[in-house]
Amino acid sequence: MKLITAILLLATIFYYCEASAKDWWINGNFYQIYPRSFMDSDGDGIGDLNGITQRLPYVKSIGMTGAWLSPMFQSPMADFGYDISNYYEVQPEYGTKDDFRRLLEKAHELGLKIFLDFVPNHTSDEHEWFQKSIKRIEPYTDYYVWHDGKIDQNGTRQPPNNWRSDFRYSAWEWNDERQQYYLHQFGVKQPDLNYRNPKVVAAMKDVLTFWLDQGVDGFRIDALPYMFEIEADQNGNYPDEPINTNCPNPDDNCHTVKIYTKDQPETFEMVYQWRELCDEYKKKHGGETRILMTESYTSLDNNMKFYGNGIRNGSQIPFNFEIITKLNVNSTAQDFANVIDSWLVRMPSHVTANWVLGNHDNHRVASRFGPERTDLLNILAQTLPGNAVTYNGEELGLTDVYISWEDSIDPQACNSDPDHYFSFSRDPARTPFQWDDTKNSGFSTANKTWLPVADNYSENNVKLQLLKPRSHLKVFLDLVQIRKHPSFQEGDIEVKVVDNVLVYKRENPGDIPFIVVLNLDKEGKNLNLRSLFPRIADELVVVTNSVQSEHNKMDRVKSDNFYAEPNVGSVLVSF
Ligand code: GLC
Ligand code: MG
Repeated sequence: MKLITAILLLATIFYYCEASAKDWWINGNFYQIYPRSFMDSDGDGIGDLNGITQRLPYVKSIGMTGAWLSPMFQSPMADFGYDISNYYEVQPEYGTKDDFRRLLEKAHELGLKIFLDFVPNHTSDEHEWFQKSIKRIEPYTDYYVWHDGKIDQNGTRQPPNNWRSDFRYSAWEWNDERQQYYLHQFGVKQPDLNYRNPKVVAAMKDVLTFWLDQGVDGFRIDALPYMFEIEADQNGNYPDEPINTNCPNPDDNCHTVKIYTKDQPETFEMVYQWRELCDEYKKKHGGETRILMTESYTSLDNNMKFYGNGIRNGSQIPFNFEIITKLNVNSTAQDFANVIDSWLVRMPSHVTANWVLGNHDNHRVASRFGPERTDLLNILAQTLPGNAVTYNGEELGLTDVYISWEDSIDPQACNSDPDHYFSFSRDPARTPFQWDDTKNSGFSTANKTWLPVADNYSENNVKLQLLKPRSHLKVFLDLVQIRKHPSFQEGDIEVKVVDNVLVYKRENPGDIPFIVVLNLDKEGKNLNLRSLFPRIADELVVVTNSVQSEHNKMDRVKSDNFYAEPNVGSVLVSF
C-alpha cells in the first residue's frame, strides 16, 4: 500500500463522524472529576466548581461525552463529601448553587453531560434529619437504623451484634442523647438511612427530582450494596454475621461475611424505582434520557441484576469494576480475556457493557499495573465494546503520590495504623490534577493544597504531554478518535490469547477491522496475527500504540509476523 493511501485512510478514520440513531449515552466516554482535586479557582488549596467550569474545555478536548462529579454537596468532609449534611446545598468551599448552574450551562454549551453523585446509603450525622432523629422528632424518628444494644453478663451495654463498618470497628455507635446505637456501615459520622421506612424512600426521591429540575443529565449512585440490611426479627434484633477465619482481627471489616448487611434483594427494586423516576421525568418534561451509573462492588450476577430483571430496567451503567478487582500487575493475558468474556457473556441482551479502570477509591492505574502499562490499559478500556469510564488523571498516566502516615487524611487510612494504613489509604490517588509546570502544577495558587501535589509534576502534566511528540495523553487522544469508528461503535469483538498476549479484533460487517494487541508478558513476542484472524490483510497499519514502542504511528507491519513488544499495547488497522 502506498504511504499516501495509508495517510488518507487514517485521516478518514480519525475524522470519522458518528451518525447514529442510538441514544446519546451508548458507547459514551465518561470522565470522573474529583472536585476537590481538579482545579482551584479561588486559591484556597481546594478544588471548586468554578475551577471545573474553567477546565471543561479540556474535558471536551479529550473526547468525553460527559463527566460525573464526586459529591459537591454541603458536608463536614469527614469522608470528603460522602457524608452529606444537606443534599440541596453546595459545599461553600466548592462554591454556590449559581456556580453549579454556570458549570452546567457551560458543559451543555460544549455538548458535555454532567452527572451528580447521589449518596443514598447514609447522610452525615450533622444532617438535620439525623439531628431530629436523635431527638425523636417526627417524621425523623425512624429515618435511621436504631437499636438499644445488648446487656452482657457483666451488665455492660454492648452493640446489638458483630456487624463491622467498612472503615473498621463496630458498625454500631452509641448515641448518648437518644440512648440507642445507630448503624453506620461506613464512618461514625455517616449514619445509615433506613430504607424500610417509606418516608426515607420518598425523601431521597425528592433529592433526585430536585437536581433533575436543575438540569443534570443523570446520577452516579454511591455504595449500593449497603442500602438495605436484613429486616429485624419480631424482637427487633439483627443476627450476627458469620466470622471469616481468614481475617482474624475482629476490628477489620473483612472479619465478618456480609450476608445480612450487603446485597439484600430489596436493593435491586430500589434501583428500578430510581430508573423509573428518571424515565418518567423524561416523559413528563422531555429532553434527553437521564441516566444512572451505579457503584457496587459485588458479584457479577448482582451487577447483571442492576441492569434490570427482564421486566423492569435498572442502571444503564452498573459500573464494571472487574479490571480493578480481578486484575493486577501479575495478571496474564488469559486473566484479562476472562474478565472481558465474563461480563460480555453474562450481560443481558439490549444493554451496554462498560469498563471502569480506576476511581478515587483505588490506587492509580499506573501504580496498580506498572507505569509502562499505562497506555495498554487505556487502549483496553477505550477499544472494548460499550462505555469507558476514566478517572481524572488516568489519561496522563498519573501515579499514586506517597502520603506519609502523619499526612494521611482519608478516614479509611486514619482508622488503621502506621503499619497498615497504606493498603487502606485512598489519599495517594486523590492528589491535585497536574495541569502544567507552574506552582502546584497550575492546580492552585495556594501555599498549601489540601493534599500535596506530586513532586514530579514538572515532568508530568497536561501541558508537557501536549507538547511532546509522544505521550500518554497523545495516545489517549488517538484512542478517543478511533473509538468513533463503526467497527468500535457497532462491531463485534473476537478475543484470542496467544503466549500471554491478548489480541482482539473489532469489526463491523462492511467496515475495516481493527486488531488490538496487548502484550502482558515481560518478553517480546513474534505473532502471526493472520493465523488468528485469517481474513485480515498482509499488511497492517499502526493506528496508535504505547509511548515506549519502537513502532511509529502509520508504520506498516506484517500481519503474519508482528513483533509485540513487552508491556506494549497497539491498535492496528487492516485495510
Ligand atoms: C463509595 C465512595 C467512597 C465512600 C463510600 C462511602 O464507595 O466511592 O469514596 O467512602 O462510598 O460513601
Ligand atoms: Mg477553591
